[in-house]
This record gives sequence, structure tokens and C-alpha cells, in this order.
Amino acid sequence: MAQTLRHDVKDLALAPEGVRRIAWADRQMPVLAAIRERFEREQPLAGHRISACLHVTTETANLARTLSAGGADVVLCASNPLSTQDDVAAALVEEYGVAVFAIKGEDNDTYYRHIEAAVDHRPHLTMDDGADVIGVLHSARREQLGDVIAGTEETTTGVIRLKALERDGKLGFPVIAVNEARTKHLFDNRYGTGQSTIDGIIRATNVLLAGKRFVVAGYGWTGRGVAMRARGMGAHVIVTEVDPLRALEAAMDGYEVLPMEAAAAIGDLFCTATGDKNVVTRAHMERMKDGAILSNTGHFNVEIEIGALRDLAVETREARAMVDEFTMADGRRLYLIGEGRLVNLAAAEGHPALVMDMSFANQALSAEWVIQNAATLERKVYDVPREIDDEIARLKLATMGIDIDTLTEEQAHYLASWDEGT
Ligand code: ADE
Repeated sequence: MAQTLRHDVKDLALAPEGVRRIAWADRQMPVLAAIRERFEREQPLAGHRISACLHVTTETANLARTLSAGGADVVLCASNPLSTQDDVAAALVEEYGVAVFAIKGEDNDTYYRHIEAAVDHRPHLTMDDGADVIGVLHSARREQLGDVIAGTEETTTGVIRLKALERDGKLGFPVIAVNEARTKHLFDNRYGTGQSTIDGIIRATNVLLAGKRFVVAGYGWTGRGVAMRARGMGAHVIVTEVDPLRALEAAMDGYEVLPMEAAAAIGDLFCTATGDKNVVTRAHMERMKDGAILSNTGHFNVEIEIGALRDLAVETREARAMVDEFTMADGRRLYLIGEGRLVNLAAAEGHPALVMDMSFANQALSAEWVIQNAATLERKVYDVPREIDDEIARLKLATMGIDIDTLTEEQAHYLASWDEGT
């Protein structure tokens, strides 16, 4: 078993810059800040150990501060080897008393050693973005399953895995699917991924999107966000899908819909957002134009067949930071951003704080809710309670200075009745 370390970060001297950037993000996270103030007074998480496996960003730092303010003892590891912001990791250790195990660019062994370190914390609550901590607890650390009251899961891919565990009768404790909250996926997955993915592609390459053919694989909430923002930058957007309904929506939203095989031959940029593996394959790469740029914004780096890209290449080099160039035998060059990992976190800073405010408000309030309701929860995947979701929307609107109407009694009655006609 890996030795428990108090922390493993790149350089504690980076802490002051991390503190500045965490404060900057905090200004865009008023809902979480209000929860933090209440947590500080009420201590709803007191006495609980939390192992969180999340992208180590300024926004996550503000969540970790909130959990600590509520009385939790928090250990944080990264949920992706390329997404850690080293200054933030340092600041959490130096300034905020959170044990962090995360270094940007860590190799696979270190990545899993860091997850082990988080599991060594013997959590009462787990907080995952991609189900890695829960995965370790359900395989190598089954003896710890009984210690865990509940878990939360941030992302679509993780929720799919947890539902598979539940379906097979193997889920060891209740889990809240934070991703399913409307105040999470409708905003984070769509507007967050939409903006930050384009941000990552541009920071990495500095290419002009106007007039380019931009292929988006997958038209779920993230694919929609990417397609919408790529169109906003003047790209001609092509969507590929396997689901007929989503394909129809993409067509009626005004995008060209093609099979990947056809899109491969004409695309200038490709971005995968499906959550599935081998979406861009060797056969597609063989058809691509010289200069095509490949990226992925799905959780795992399995959507682009990277092994095939390496096999096909007669020469590989780093073209610029975060961009690898693969030269094919016929002279065509294909470019891969951020090793095919989440482009928005590998090449940019992830979703802006203003949307993470709602995602992480869901995390914090779900942690409180599972502790309050532990006695009645079963080994199931639960949605975030509707009251929490609605309350976060109300609070967010208030912080944005937006007022809305209220149903009159007469209107409420009309909506609840069946006998009022024309
Ligand atoms: N996932 C996507 N963007 C993120 C961010 N800024 N912080 C944490 N997790 C994220």
C-alpha cells in the first residue's frame, strides 16, 4: 500500500499566486460563499472525513474551503493527470489546511498513488469527478466500504459507471448524482464546457475559427455547448451522433449532421464530447486533411484512438506547448491537443467560476443532505433533492439581480386542475 503523505504538490512556493487566483474565482461564486458562511456557523460536516477526487482548480479550492468551513477534514486528489493547477494545490496546503495530492502532468502511477493517498484518509464521504475514488473503494479497498456514509459524483461519465454498479447490485453505499441536478448539467455541461473548450483550443493553437469546419462528436449537453460557441466564433459546425433524436435536434438547431466517416474528410477541427471510446478512429485519421486539429472534451482520453495516431505517424514532435504533431507516411500532419485529455482543463482553466458556483453549491449541499439523511438512504444512486436544486437556482438569480414572477393563487389552482376548459 502506498505510504500516506501529508501532501504531494509541485511547489509550495507557488501558494501566493494560488491564493490570489482562488480569491478571484471566489468573487464569481457568491452562492457557494453564502453556503460557506452558513457552514462556518452551523458546522454540518463536523467530524466527517471527506476524500475528494476533483480537478484541482481555483473553483475546487473554494469548494474545499467550504467543506472545511463546515467542519470536514478534507483530502483532495486530482481527477485527471493534466487538470491540476499547481499554484492552487500549493495554496490549499499552505493557506487552507487541505491535504492535496496532485501535480499537473503526473504520470499514471503517480495519479493512482495520489488516489490511494486520498483513500488512505478513510473517508466517511467521497466526492468524485469520474468515479475514481469509488472505483478504488469497490476493488482494492472493499474493507473500507463500510466506513463510507455516502458519495457524490460530479460528471456524466461517473454517473453512468455508478448506475452500472447499482444495476449489478454492487454499489456499496448511496451516491448522489450531482450531475443530474438541473442547476448543474444545464449550465456547467453546456455553457461551462462550451466556453472553456473553445478557450482551450484557442489557447493551445491560436487558430482562427471563423470559416473553419468544426466537427463536434456528440450532441449531449456538452456537445451542444461546444457547437453553439464554435458557431458563435464563425465556424461551420458539423455534428456527428449515434442517437437519432439528438441528431434530429442538431439538424433543426441548424447544424450539418454527418457520419464521422464523411466529416473526417472535410473537418479542420474535431472535438469529441460523447463519453464513449474510439469515436475518432484510425480509419477516420486516414481520411483527414493535412493540418486537422483533434481534441477531446469528454471525461476520459479514450474518445480519440491515440494509439492509432501514434502507429500511423512516421514522425512525432511537440509543435507547441500542449500540441503534438503526427506526420503520416503521405506527409499529412495531424495535431492532437493535450494528449486527447479534457481540452478545457488541460489547455485552459476549466469552466468559469460563475457556473462552477452552482455545480459546487450542489456538491456542498448534497454532502450536508447525506449526513442529515444517512439513516434512510439505501445503496442507490440518488438525484440531488429537487428543493436543493430549486434553492440554488433561486439564490443564483438573486446574486445576478434578476427578479421573476410568482404564480397567483388562481394560476396555481388552474395548473393543478383538470376541469377548466376553454
Ligand atoms: N470541471 C470543469 N471545469 C472545472 C473547474 N473549473 N473546476 C473544477 N472542475 C471542473
